[in-house]
Amino acid sequence: MKITFYGHNCLLLEIQGKHILIDPFITGNELAKDIDVNSIKADYIFLTHAHSDHTLDAEAIAKRTGAVIVSNFEIATHYEERGIEVHPMNHGGSWKFEFGKVKYVTAIHTSSFGDGKYGGQPGGFVIQGEHKNVYIAGDTALTMDMKLIPLYTKLDLAVLPIGDNFTMGIDDAIIASNFVECDKVLGVHYDTFGFIEIDHEEAKRKFYDAGKDLMLLEIGESIEL
Ligand code: NI
Ligand code: MN
Repeated sequence: MKITFYGHNCLLLEIQGKHILIDPFITGNELAKDIDVNSIKADYIFLTHAHSDHTLDAEAIAKRTGAVIVSNFEIATHYEERGIEVHPMNHGGSWKFEFGKVKYVTAIHTSSFGDGKYGGQPGGFVIQGEHKNVYIAGDTALTMDMKLIPLYTKLDLAVLPIGDNFTMGIDDAIIASNFVECDKVLGVHYDTFGFIEIDHEEAKRKFYDAGKDLMLLEIGESIEL
């Protein structure tokens, strides 16, 4: 499984030749100005919640690529009304896609579109493919529900927000990695705007001191799981 970071909470997962794009927010992200949004491939677009820093480019990319949008019922319906193919899910539900199994899991946050329209309840995704298991937390507080995840999935990577203010910060993300029983963490949702700027070295040191590995990728950088 190849994972490319496009800034904020936007990731591209390549699993069995399929391109799964998470939370596309590129044209509105000053830090991602070198990324050409029109060159990004997508077979599926997964949206954790409706906030525009997670959905801004979803409609344009879906229309260009023909990608299927996967999200909660309300968000899926929003895009279906715009002529986009969708796959609605809801919390606790799993589905076997052609590339692997996906479960939509709890997140503690809010979810409204840029115009204030209701965007259902926010979530995260547990994605299993090519014998690798990844948890995409989305925007969330630390929550006891994270303890449910290792009951059914042994994770290889946890993608956790670390920017604080709107989501977990670093200290809670360390506890979250304990809850999900995964010491390999990819940090997201930091530095994009003033409220969520972090000290990278301090963040990495705190994870290191807790016996964990925090990865902070450059925008456009990829890792292989
Ligand atoms: Ni949000
Ligand atoms: Mn956000």
